[in-house]
This record gives sequence, structure tokens and C-alpha cells, in this order.
Amino acid sequence: MSNTKEWEEIPTNEPDRQRYFINEDRKLLKLKEADLGRKLTFHVTTFGCQMNARDSEKLRGILEEIGYIPSESEDCDLVIYNTCTVRENADNRVYGRLGILHGYKKKNPGMKIAVCGCMIQEEHVVNRICESYRFVDLLFGTHNVYQLAELLHESFMKEGMTIHVLDKAEKIVEDLPQVRTYPFKAGVNIMYGCNNFCSYCIVPYVRGRERSRTPQAILREIEKQVEDGVVEVMLLGQNVNSYGKGLENPISFAELLLEIDKIPGLERIRFMTSHPKDLSQELIDAIAKSKHVCHHIHLPLQSGSSRLLKDMNRHYDKGAYLDLVRRIREAIPDVALTTDIIVGYPGETDEDFEETMDVVKQVGFDSAFTFEYSRRSGTPAATRPDQVAQEVVTERFNRLLKQVQEDGRNRAKALEGQTRTVLVEEVNREDDSLVSGRMENNSVVHFKGTSDLIGKIVPVHLTSCKGFYYLGEIAN
Ligand code: SAH
Ligand code: SF4
Ligand code: F3S
Repeated sequence: MSNTKEWEEIPTNEPDRQRYFINEDRKLLKLKEADLGRKLTFHVTTFGCQMNARDSEKLRGILEEIGYIPSESEDCDLVIYNTCTVRENADNRVYGRLGILHGYKKKNPGMKIAVCGCMIQEEHVVNRICESYRFVDLLFGTHNVYQLAELLHESFMKEGMTIHVLDKAEKIVEDLPQVRTYPFKAGVNIMYGCNNFCSYCIVPYVRGRERSRTPQAILREIEKQVEDGVVEVMLLGQNVNSYGKGLENPISFAELLLEIDKIPGLERIRFMTSHPKDLSQELIDAIAKSKHVCHHIHLPLQSGSSRLLKDMNRHYDKGAYLDLVRRIREAIPDVALTTDIIVGYPGETDEDFEETMDVVKQVGFDSAFTFEYSRRSGTPAATRPDQVAQEVVTERFNRLLKQVQEDGRNRAKALEGQTRTVLVEEVNREDDSLVSGRMENNSVVHFKGTSDLIGKIVPVHLTSCKGFYYLGEIAN
């Protein structure tokens, strides 16, 4: 697709329409550059999960195509906050930082501030920004990230705030420019949205219904990435195990994985997130027999109490989770298991919490993200009268954290002395005689090496475990 193509009229089909606006924005930017006598700069700040990180790459790709130059600092000509709203503190961080951006804008009145992502899908957030953060120029949601060039154009052409939020996804628009954060590893959306409606969770409301991309589009994207030097992909979806269900030619996630496994030159395949209710034996067997799928499964537990799991609408109970873990370890003995756990879900009793502690102790996770329950308005759990008192939550949270840290350290320690393959990611930030990389189980290793190793997979002897990372030596 040519970047300089001229259109007689504004195209209605995508991605041509966005290509048209990229061209128009480029012309506007040239005028501004001439005025200021310098290039214009941008910064995209990502909050939240890997879906958002991936969307931010798309935003950056469009901005670079328009002619903006990336800036390390938010003190620049265009800042986009790509927001998360999964817990309340995610929202608060954004509101706090918007105040700082206002300070930059007072010095640089031509500066544009955009806020997009999951928070903007919530009406109360849009209202609050309109009322109390009038200096923001552009608001858009999760379903129209691809329209950035068009929205920016509107914001340049008219006074006041530009607001475009779609209630639901209208289409999956492919083939727009995007930049990758790392040359050697990439995130790949295999599906968007979520249909599960766990009772505490806002994601289905802000990301819409589950939509799978076709296997052809996914394979094509990965093949192209591999041609460009990518050796590791992370397949992204809120519940990858239900991939493919709504497609014209349904295909399972296990089948997709085995197709991706065949791509020549691709060394490592990761995926995130697996919902325990849909993790099939077929998938376990596919991981075990694949050549390149990493032996690491992120399997969010949320709670160990069958009673609470039912209330959370998770569709598995304590016994089913433990049985799943047993079957996974039987088929893939060296698998690393990580998880997410919520403490203080409404109605959580001491007994419920002890069930969670019991599962944690029985499984021995390699690592766990632990969260205090956060009330999200619009979700069923938020209206419950039996919210747990903060002191109780804090006490339980600290106990759980201590346990998962201890388990993590023990699991990590057990690998000391072994040799593992490591994908080298960067020169160590504190000591430039070292490089840092990740093992298949996602743990970080630092060892002597030079920048030419970046992007390569090398065997490393794990000489000592320092809690959550290792020091090692390249093995010959
Ligand atoms: N789709 C993934 C999770 C995405 S959200 C899955 O189902 O596994 C990431 C994590 O945030 C969840 O696993 C959950 O542990 C946590 N989370 C979601 N909503 C939350 C809330 N209201 N309060 C606290 N933690 C929450
Ligand atoms: Fe939220 Fe549940 Fe969907 Fe995960 S599966 S995104 S926790 S609703
Ligand atoms: Fe947050 Fe949205 Fe991801 S709410 S966790 S950024 S899907």
C-alpha cells in the first residue's frame, strides 16, 4: 500500500480511510513544523495489560507514519494515555498524572493531550474528564484505536474536545502501520474482548464481546514478524482457550498453537491468559508435544473457595483447579505455573480465604499476582452489601503475599545449577558488562555478555538464584 497515494474523495472503506487521514495529518504537521522550526514529538504511556501494550504499538505506528518523532518524556507535543480500569488504583493513577500533563501544556499551548483505552469506555470517566480536565483534547475508546489519524485530524480542525467512543466493536481493521517495542519479540492479538463476565470484572464491559481473528490473519502476521527478526511471540487474549469458537470455520486454540509451532524460524511461543474452565486436555497435550511452546502457563485461580468461585461465575471449583494442575504437571513435568488471586471478594470469610491459602500451598506457584478486590461500578459484585473490611483484607493479603513469595523463591532456587536457554533482551541497565534475558519460564537471568547477543537464544548455566532472578554464565 503506498503511503503517498492521493484520494479524490475521503474513502469510506478501511484501512484506506485511515491512510487518507494519515496523509492529511502529515500535511498539517509539515505546516506546524515550518511554523515552529522543528519536528513535533509524541509520547504514548501505557497503563494496564498486554492488550493495551499491543494497542499502544498500533498508536505509535500511526503517529510515526504521520511524522511525529518519539519522545522519551511526556513533556512533548502529543501525549496519549492508554488507560486501564481493571482496579480503582489504575484510574487514580491516570487522574493524578493528567495534572502533571496540564503543567506541560501551560508551557507549550500547542500541545495535544489524548486519553484512550479502557477507562474511556465508562461514561462516568468521560463525564469527569469533560468537567474537570478541560485541557484534554481527545478522548477515544478501545474499539476505535485504528481511527487515531482521523480523530487527530478532527481535533486539529475544530475547537474543543474531540470525543469518539464506540459502544461495541464494529470491525477488526488490519494492515495499519505499527511499531514493535522489541525487534526480537512481539505480541499478537488472537482474539479481542471477553464473554465470561466474572462477577468482579469490568473487562467485558470495556472490551466488548469475544471476537477471534482468523488463523490465516494470525499466521500471516507472525510469519511476517519472523521475517523481520522476531523469535518469540506472545499470543494475546482474555481467554485464549476459547479461541476460534465464533469463526466461520471453527478451530481450537490447540490446533492454532500447533499451526504456529510449524512456522520456520520461530523459536518461542507464549500465550496469555488461560481461563481454567476452558483449558482442555487437547491443549495440554498440544503444549507437551509442540517444539516451541514455552512450558509456562498463566492460570488465574482468583480464589480457592468453591463457594466464592461459583459466586464469581468462574465455572470451576477448587477440586477441578487442582485436578487441572495435576494433569498439566503430569504431561509437562517442568512447567512453570503462575496465577492471579483476588483477596477480599465480597462475602469472603476466613474459611474461604483458608481455602485459597490451601490451594496456593498445594500447587506451589512459580509466581503469583495478588490483588485486593476493587469495586468496579457496573459489575454485579460491586452492589453486594457484604464488602470485606479493609483491615481484614490487608491482613489476608499480607499473609498470602508472604506465602507466594516463599513458594516463588523455593521454586526458583530448585533450578540453581541447571543450564537453561535464555532469550537475551538487553544490556543490563546497571552493569553494562552484563546482559539480561528470560528463560522459558519467564524468569530473568543476568550474565556476562555483549550487545550482539540481543535477540539470540543461548544456553546459560544458572550459577546462583537471587530470589526472583538469577546470575548465570553462558554455557558452551
Ligand atoms: N482474562 C484474565 C484476567 C484479566 S484481568 C483471566 O480471566 O484470567 C487480570 C487480573 O486482574 C484478573 O485475573 C484478576 O485477578 C484481577 N482483577 C480483575 N478484576 C478485579 C477487581 N475488580 N479487583 C481486583 N482484581 C481484579
Ligand atoms: Fe475478566 Fe473473567 Fe473475562 Fe478474565 S475471563 S477478563 S477475569 S471477565
Ligand atoms: Fe486493564 Fe483494559 Fe487490560 S481494563 S487489564 S487494560 S483489558
